Amino acid sequence: MAGIVANNYGSFNVTFVGGNGAELTDTNGKKYIDFVSGIGVNCLGHNNPILVEALTAQIKKQIHIGNYYTSDTNIAFAEELTKATGMKRVYFCNSGAEANEAAIKLARKYGWLMSKDNGGNRKTIVSLNHSFHGRSIATLKATGQEKFHPDCFAPYPEGFKYIEPNDFSAIEKTFDDSVCAFLMECVQGEGGVNLVDEKWAKAACDAARKAGALVIIDEVQTGMGRTGTLFASLAMGLNPDVITAAKGIAGGVPMGACIFGGKAEDVFVAGDHQSTFGGNPLACAGGRAVLAEMLKPAFFEHVNKVGKLIKETVLSWNMKCITEVRAKGLMIGIDITQSPGDVQKKCLENGLCVSTAGTKTVRFLPPLIITESQALEGLKIFKAALESV
Ligand SMILES: Cc1ncc(COP(=O)(O)O)c(C=O)c1O
Repeated sequence: MAGIVANNYGSFNVTFVGGNGAELTDTNGKKYIDFVSGIGVNCLGHNNPILVEALTAQIKKQIHIGNYYTSDTNIAFAEELTKATGMKRVYFCNSGAEANEAAIKLARKYGWLMSKDNGGNRKTIVSLNHSFHGRSIATLKATGQEKFHPDCFAPYPEGFKYIEPNDFSAIEKTFDDSVCAFLMECVQGEGGVNLVDEKWAKAACDAARKAGALVIIDEVQTGMGRTGTLFASLAMGLNPDVITAAKGIAGGVPMGACIFGGKAEDVFVAGDHQSTFGGNPLACAGGRAVLAEMLKPAFFEHVNKVGKLIKETVLSWNMKCITEVRAKGLMIGIDITQSPGDVQKKCLENGLCVSTAGTKTVRFLPPLIITESQALEGLKIFKAALESV
């Protein structure tokens, strides 16, 4: 109800009461095709029977235990996730910002360990212009967009600098022995669905490593199958020391993860970082169900097939108002000449949920299980909205 839930979001006046697969239902029984998935979260769709069964079984067994102890579900998910990524350890938390906060602390401690006998000056974290890493004070500062550093929330922590993605000439002058970590998204989600050039990403990660810094890839949005593989950075061969994940990791139960190995493996010791809810068994049960589904042979094939269908269909319209389409798996950005917010509103009126990113982009992040016919049905509504706005 307006005024009681804090108005931090500027939400639309639509209240959903149910959902199934890639479809949502509002209080009036109206159906919507979901191209948003709760901002890249409901990767297995709504009311997924496998996820519901796993969560129900875990609720009956144990919802929460706390980190004085361990739980079998928590240990099992940690083992499965590290095996799937080739990493050594995982710190579980509750959101993307928290996963990045953990990675920032890890990087700072790593830099301190590396430089403490020489003045302790290895403190700087390099991130990309146009990036987004969260809304806590430190992750806002790690975000390479000035609009996320307004005076009203100042002061921000020191020790962050930014590099322009895809600019090879910037790499050499950026990385030196003051840098403890390089932090990047493989596709900048909130920044506008900007694909970072693979050759540039490799060169920047190599330069960071050569300078003695950790490579941290923020896969909060690109990870857990969104871009057509489990993690984009692994598919791109970036060889990260740290991957951060959240959003779809537990299929809709709040969860984040800072997954690490390589030079980062032994940096954290007991007491360095903690969270009451971190590794909560209910979230871990969701995580296990999601990961098991994604590791089935045809899962990513489907994601890439539907992603390609959406991109090719939008391009085939040859509409003047569409200036560019960028896509990796089911993370799709469409630049348009109209206001993305107006198109989003029109789509919603006509039964399609879409999101926006950057200043000129409509963004699609549908459930990864969306069918081809649902995708085409949603695209019809999107095209009509473009024609009418
Ligand atoms: C790349 C990236 N990092 C971090 C975050 C922050 O995640 P959360 O909202 O779960 O804190 C987001 C959220 O959109 C994101 O896209």
